[in-house]
Amino acid sequence: MSMSKDGRNKQPRKGIVLAGGSGSRLFPLTLGVSKQLLPVFDKPLIYYPIATLIMSGVREVLFITTPEDRNAFIRLLGDGSQWGMSFSYAVQDQPRGLADAYRIGRAFLNGAPSVLILGDNIFFGHGLKNLLDHAAGNPGATIFTSLVRDPSRFGVVELDPDHRPLSIEEKPEKPRSRWAITGLYFLDGRACDYADEVVPSKRGEIEIVSILQRYLETDNLSVETLYRGFAWLDAGTHESLHQAGEFVKTLQDRQGLLVSSPEELAFRHGLIDLEQLSALAERQGQSSYGAALVELVNQVRQYG
Ligand code: DAU
Repeated sequence: MSMSKDGRNKQPRKGIVLAGGSGSRLFPLTLGVSKQLLPVFDKPLIYYPIATLIMSGVREVLFITTPEDRNAFIRLLGDGSQWGMSFSYAVQDQPRGLADAYRIGRAFLNGAPSVLILGDNIFFGHGLKNLLDHAAGNPGATIFTSLVRDPSRFGVVELDPDHRPLSIEEKPEKPRSRWAITGLYFLDGRACDYADEVVPSKRGEIEIVSILQRYLETDNLSVETLYRGFAWLDAGTHESLHQAGEFVKTLQDRQGLLVSSPEELAFRHGLIDLEQLSALAERQGQSSYGAALVELVNQVRQYG
């Protein structure tokens, strides 16, 4: 493996979806089912972060789940080949914190740069692909920030007038800005080494912000801003899960376009061809999701 001093290496960027956790803010919904398998209108929540990874150019993905939920994820997602991708699975026996993704994922990454996405984070908006492409070209680490009303519920980044990061804090009591750090992180090959050095925070978790802090200290942290025109939703509470479903339904009804369909994105990114897309559509039975994919196939056949 060849890695230069700035942590860049030639391997393609790999994806990690952190889809464990107890889901306790969604009880009783999550007593029998993993949070990330719950529906957001017409698809399981986990489809949305997968869509973001496909748009990021990632083809190899590691899913980190609880030991109990592992088989359900495998049943849903398989080895990824149906979407022209490669999926593997690892378990996290306890929710130790987000930085644990880089301890569990060390062998999978094998020094490659990565995109970590939280399994309950939904990103949508015109121009998202450009932001993701831009982030993929940045050295070091890149985070994505969005304005929120209640910053103390999130990781928070303080920005200078040029939108460069000044400080980062996890769930601060007195936030220095309203810019929340979203659950999408582009990190270079040094992330696993930094994760090994993280010590648990006051709340007992190994925090992703501790890794980001290392990049910030060495002036290696970039920030992409999700401003007006982007939707960033996390589906962690009954309220936000419901809102996310409403949002997807409203957009899809109005535009007749699917939001964050892995099948469609795999096709549009050249990972599968039209015949494969058509076969995937047929497999969805009588559902409206299947019907939307069939319509997409017909439109491509008619209009290219
Ligand atoms: O959603 C963005 C926020 O996500 C960031 O602003 C925060 O900086 C970041 O810490 C995180 O905050 P949350 O309070 O939302 O994290 P939560 O503990 O709810 O975990 C987020 C997801 O990651 C959740 O779907 C469960 C999963 N998870 C979490 C932990 C701590 C795991 O799979 N393993 C874990 O150890």
